[in-house]
Amino acid sequence: MKDELIKTTLTHSKKEIPNSSQLEFGRCFTDHMFIMDYIDGKGWHDPRIVPYQPISLDPAAMIFHYGQTVFEGLKAYKTKDEKVLLFRPNKNMERLNLSNERLCIPKIDEEFVLDALKQLIRLDQEWIPTIEGTSLYIRPFIISTEPYLGVAASKSYRLMIILSPVGSYYKEGIHPVKIFVEREFVRAVAGGTGKAKTAGNYAASLKAQELSEKLGYSQVLWLDGVEKKYIEEVGSMNIFFKINGKVITPALNGSILEGVTRNSVIQLLKHWGIPVSERKISIDEIYESHRNGLVEEIFGTGTAAVISPVGELNWEGEKMVINNGQTGLLSKKLYNTITNIQNGEEPDPFDWTVEVK
Ligand code: COI
Repeated sequence: MKDELIKTTLTHSKKEIPNSSQLEFGRCFTDHMFIMDYIDGKGWHDPRIVPYQPISLDPAAMIFHYGQTVFEGLKAYKTKDEKVLLFRPNKNMERLNLSNERLCIPKIDEEFVLDALKQLIRLDQEWIPTIEGTSLYIRPFIISTEPYLGVAASKSYRLMIILSPVGSYYKEGIHPVKIFVEREFVRAVAGGTGKAKTAGNYAASLKAQELSEKLGYSQVLWLDGVEKKYIEEVGSMNIFFKINGKVITPALNGSILEGVTRNSVIQLLKHWGIPVSERKISIDEIYESHRNGLVEEIFGTGTAAVISPVGELNWEGEKMVINNGQTGLLSKKLYNTITNIQNGEEPDPFDWTVEVK
C-alpha cells in the first residue's frame, strides 16, 4: 500500500468556482475526489483521484443498514504568499484510526492517506477561498460496502476524501450563538460511540437539534447520558467556560469527542499562562456561578466552528445571558490567534501547520 501509486483522472468539465463572499458551509464541492477501496484478504488498494462524481452502491451495502462509517473534518488555507497550509492534519489521521478501531473498520496507513489528501488539495488548490472566515473544508470518510443484511463488520469498505470551500459554520459567523441545554434526549454514554467520529452520533442528535431550532437556538448542549447533570459537548463542538478568571472544559470521559481545536485551545491557554483545567462540570455549577456573577465567557471549539462564542444558554426555561450576549475578549483572542496561525499570518510556535508542497 505504502508505495502504491495514486492514479489520477482529471475532469473534462471544470466547475465554476463560487464567489468567496457567498460561501455557506458544506454546500459545494471541488472538481476532484480521492477514493480507495478495501476488501478482506487484499487490504486497502486502488488509490485514485477522479473527477468529483456520484458513486454507485448496492442497496444492500451495509452502510445503509447498520451505519458502519467514520469521518473526519479538517481545513486547508492559502497564505498571502500562496502557500497552502493544513492545520494539525496528523491529529485527524490519528483520530480517524481511533474511530476505525471503535467501529471495527480496518485501519488506514495514516501517512499514505495524508499524502493522498495533499495530492488532492494540490490539484484543486484554486478552490481554496482566501477572504476572512473562509477555508477549504476537507472531509475524509469511510463507508462499509459489503452487500449483506447480517449484523457484522463489513468485509469491504471505501474511503473517500471530498473538498468543500466554506464560509462560517453558523449563520452568526463569529457572533455569539444561543444554545439550548438538552434534558430529554442524550447523545452518547461512556462505552458507546461518543468519542468516535461516526455518523450515528450525529443522527442521534438531530431530533433535539430540530426542537431547539424551533425555539430559536442554534444547537444543543448535551448533558451526560446517565444523570443528565454533567456537561459533555455541543452538537458540532466542544465547550469551554471562563469563570472568575479560570477556564474549564469537560474532561474526556469516553463519550466526548476529543476535538483538535479543543486540544489547541488548551495548549494556547497554557502558553499564555491562563489557568485551564479539564474536569467534570455540572450544569448546576455553571448556573450557580452565573447567579454569583462569575461566568465571564462561554465558547465552543471545533474545526468547522473554529471558536464560537455562546451568548445565551437555556436550561429548563432559565435563560443565562453571557457577557451581555457579546463576544468576549478571550474568545476573540483565541479566534484571532488560531485563524492567524492557520492562515500563516502569525508565527506558529507549536508547529501546528503543515505546508502542502
Ligand atoms: C467539524 O468540526 O469538522 C465537524 O466534523 C463537525 C460537524 C460539521 C459535524
